Amino acid sequence: MGCDAEQFMQIIESRSSSKLLTPGPVDFSKILRALMVAISSPSAHNSQPWRLVIIDDREIMERLLGEMASEWRRDLMADGLPDWKVDVIIEESKKRTLRASIWILVCLTMEDMDRYPDERRMKYEYVMAVQSIGAFIENLLLALHAQGLGACWRCGPLFAPDAVRKVLGIPRHVEPQALVEIAHPGGIRSKTRKTLKEIAWKNRWGEPLS
Ligand SMILES: Cc1cc2nc3c(=O)[nH]c(=O)nc-3n(C[C@H](O)[C@H](O)[C@H](O)COP(=O)(O)O)c2cc1C
Repeated sequence: MGCDAEQFMQIIESRSSSKLLTPGPVDFSKILRALMVAISSPSAHNSQPWRLVIIDDREIMERLLGEMASEWRRDLMADGLPDWKVDVIIEESKKRTLRASIWILVCLTMEDMDRYPDERRMKYEYVMAVQSIGAFIENLLLALHAQGLGACWRCGPLFAPDAVRKVLGIPRHVEPQALVEIAHPGGIRSKTRKTLKEIAWKNRWGEPLS
């Protein structure tokens, strides 16, 4: 490999979500390069269940946010939040999301996953597809970060799949999973992590690692 292992690990460790991206045009060739890297991600049965829509059209972005906001509003109202608060939450989220120059909508398809006659195993197949999508998105984030771009993984589409399908013409069997917002880095917070001791055991659950 052409890269020092320690450098590679530092790239992984230094990635952070850009919660408040710095607006401005980005080099599209870097986005394509990151996508080329991400498609090498592992997936269950090599099914590659990811499908993508790359969005850089402001009008489509606005329309998508508008439709997703209607579904979000309904949920927030059902939670009992007052109108004014719902407006503030939605408006702040919209403003934040529009700081991105490019969005990558990551969707899931079960078309190349295995099929079982029973619900139990189908559920596990679905979980494997979701896990594969997670691997894809993480590699995408790392490849963007390695090239100096900022990004944030946003779960909004998961909560408003029909709105996303409607605006982008996505077929019914394809499930919107996440939006990766991309621009220049910004709004990075220092992150806290559980220690290895808190989350990992040796040989048997509860046995300390060292
Ligand atoms: C499945 C998933 C969904 C996420 N959804 C959102 C989101 O909707 N909005 C957001 O600001 N960050 C979202 N994030 C980013 C997390 O908040 C972030 O990764 C976490 O706080 C750790 O910070 P770091 O990425 O800087 O290490 C999501 C991350 C994952 C893995």
